[in-house]
Amino acid sequence: MTEADFAFLRLLLQQRSGLSLTADKRYLAESRLGILCRRRGIADLEALVRQLRLSRDPGLESAVVDAMTTNETLFFRDQTPFNLFRDVILPERLAANAASRSLRIWCAAVSSGQEAYSLAMLIDELGDRLAGWKIEILGTDISSEILEKARAGIYSQFEIQRGLPIQMLLKHFQQVGDKWQVSQRIRSMVEFKPHNLLERNDPFGRFDVIFCRNVLIYFDVPTKVKVLELLTPRLVPDGAFVLGAAETVLGLATKLTCDPQHRGLYRHPAMTAAPLASSPAPGLRPRPVVAVSALRG
Ligand SMILES: C[S@@+](CC[C@H](N)C(=O)[O-])C[C@H]1O[C@@H](n2cnc3c(N)ncnc32)[C@H](O)[C@@H]1O
Repeated sequence: MTEADFAFLRLLLQQRSGLSLTADKRYLAESRLGILCRRRGIADLEALVRQLRLSRDPGLESAVVDAMTTNETLFFRDQTPFNLFRDVILPERLAANAASRSLRIWCAAVSSGQEAYSLAMLIDELGDRLAGWKIEILGTDISSEILEKARAGIYSQFEIQRGLPIQMLLKHFQQVGDKWQVSQRIRSMVEFKPHNLLERNDPFGRFDVIFCRNVLIYFDVPTKVKVLELLTPRLVPDGAFVLGAAETVLGLATKLTCDPQHRGLYRHPAMTAAPLASSPAPGLRPRPVVAVSALRG
């Protein structure tokens, strides 16, 4: 690939998705876009770039973004954020929302859905205690192709073996040929929609919990700051923001701050209206704090 073609692709990816194509990823671009060329009957990378330059075809641009995104994910990835969700965030939000009996969770950059389904399975553990609650779990991603896989909820043996506790497999999956499908009950708890984290418009409203994990690592610093700036106002007061294990807000100009008691959990101080204890707001009828049953994988 020529320098000029690489620079063109770099700019295209940066503008369309925020993905930062550094010089050391050149080989990755050549191999992934080579596959795209073969699939689409395009002679080579030079021809691909020529077509992109001439047509500005949004479908082809999306295909390039799709080809360059890394969709690596697994059930209960890194475990700690899910323990945090089960033991801290969920009890806290259930107490805070006892009056409205609604809970909204957003997995921004959800890839093939394992993150959202992991949260749904944890919520399902609460059983009848959530009767009458409106629970929404939204999973979004820039890649429509990966969202199709997420919606189907069908995973290979390899994907199942990575992180899913056996009791969860037995309880929530059915075998379909040599693959496994998430049960209809768990699938019905999650909705998947396309969304680009760089988009300024806010089609989804505010959330109690935002998981935005393992996507900022692919962005340069100004893009990380922009994405955090766009996501922060989408949290409710006292809402919880969770990043990936290799990600942090330290050194980034953002209003989010680390929760000193829980590593990996972030909040927006300006939106923190009350102490973070699970006590109901004044005026609300006190309700018992929901005990989230232990789940050890
Ligand atoms: C490595 S996966 C992370 C999946 C999951 N959150 C996890 O931690 O396991 C990163 C995902 O970010 C998505 N992505 C990349 N750029 C994006 C953007 N600008 N807006 C939305 N999603 C994006 C990719 O398509 C990919 O599915």
